[in-house]
Amino acid sequence: MPRLTSHPSPLTSSSTLFIALILVCSQPNRSAAAAANATGRHRQMSLDYYTKSCPQVEQLVGSVTSLQFKEVPVSGPATIRLFFHDCFFTGCDASILIASKPGSKEPAEKDAIDNKDLRVEGFETIAKAKSLVENKCPGVVSCADILAIAARDFVHLSGGPYYQVKKGRWDGRISTAARVPPNIPRANSTVDQLLKLFNSKGLTLEDMVVLSGAHTIGFAHCEQFSSRLYDYKGTKQPDPVIDPRLLKALRMSCPHFGGNKDIVVPFDVTTPFQFDNSYYANLEAKLGLLASDQALFSDPRTRPVVQGLAKDKQKFFQAFGAAMEKMGMIGVKRGRKHGERRRDCSLHG
Ligand code: HEM
Repeated sequence: MPRLTSHPSPLTSSSTLFIALILVCSQPNRSAAAAANATGRHRQMSLDYYTKSCPQVEQLVGSVTSLQFKEVPVSGPATIRLFFHDCFFTGCDASILIASKPGSKEPAEKDAIDNKDLRVEGFETIAKAKSLVENKCPGVVSCADILAIAARDFVHLSGGPYYQVKKGRWDGRISTAARVPPNIPRANSTVDQLLKLFNSKGLTLEDMVVLSGAHTIGFAHCEQFSSRLYDYKGTKQPDPVIDPRLLKALRMSCPHFGGNKDIVVPFDVTTPFQFDNSYYANLEAKLGLLASDQALFSDPRTRPVVQGLAKDKQKFFQAFGAAMEKMGMIGVKRGRKHGERRRDCSLHG
């Protein structure tokens, strides 16, 4: 179990700014579907996809997400990020949940280098929700839909917007680590690289800036930003675009040498547990954590979007819900020809 430890804030000179938290990680009715399969036809995605086969699916998932949110709060950011990483590689098909086969030479998607920091609490949340749903509606609801619903629930539970989730995703059968890397953005990606990647998934510049607002909650490991603290672009100096108080605090949590590699710090130094638009105001104030976050304010193409969202929380909420819906449709599989419905999300076949 992870331990959440409170430390006195190194930034006591500011009333609104802190990075006080350090996390030390350990590491039914099946006839409709059957008929569709038999004929090779399948239904469109819709809000009421499971109305006949599992009408209570959202409540079932909701009972698990709300309990997890209370008892294991890191499940929220963990699940939202899990959904994002799933969608960006081979579409929103829950292939990221598949475990590597013991002894197999080809590791599964979840064991790719870019997925190694995905927290176990996200996987656990989906496994719990799936098991409850399977109890009530066996073999009906896909893991991919459960992941999409759970991510939405956590956005809302953390204080963010509630948006409707269309359902009807099937689970993907392919899960390989090898081709993951170019599909997941990195902390040092440039805006050009980010734009290229998001555009390739059918997302716009605005969608990209809006979705990055998910970094209003959650944590990052020191290794993701330590070059900004000590040796920015080989200069042996810190990144000039970083508030000196934040720099000092981050250096305390993340020493140049000999630090604990499991230490993480919050993305949002002002309201780390609240899903709000302060991520954007932080970027304006040089309080972004990753180089890729801060770059959204430095770049003249994305800066106006950051500024617009920083001053209008309702606009951010509305746009975030819409962008999550859009992201949740990437590469969706429908029908037996392209997918399956796994009973255990970690086991394919
Ligand atoms: C724009 C490009 C993005 C980059 C470069 C990026 C990169 C990262 C990195 C490096 C971490 C820290 C991982 C760690 O150290 O454990 C992280 C965490 C996180 N990311 Fe992103 N991300 C991006 C976009 C997104 C999007 C679109 C979402 C969701 C819609 C998202 C949601 C999250 C969340 C919630 C966390 C915190 C996870 C936790 O605390 O367990 N990110 N991201």
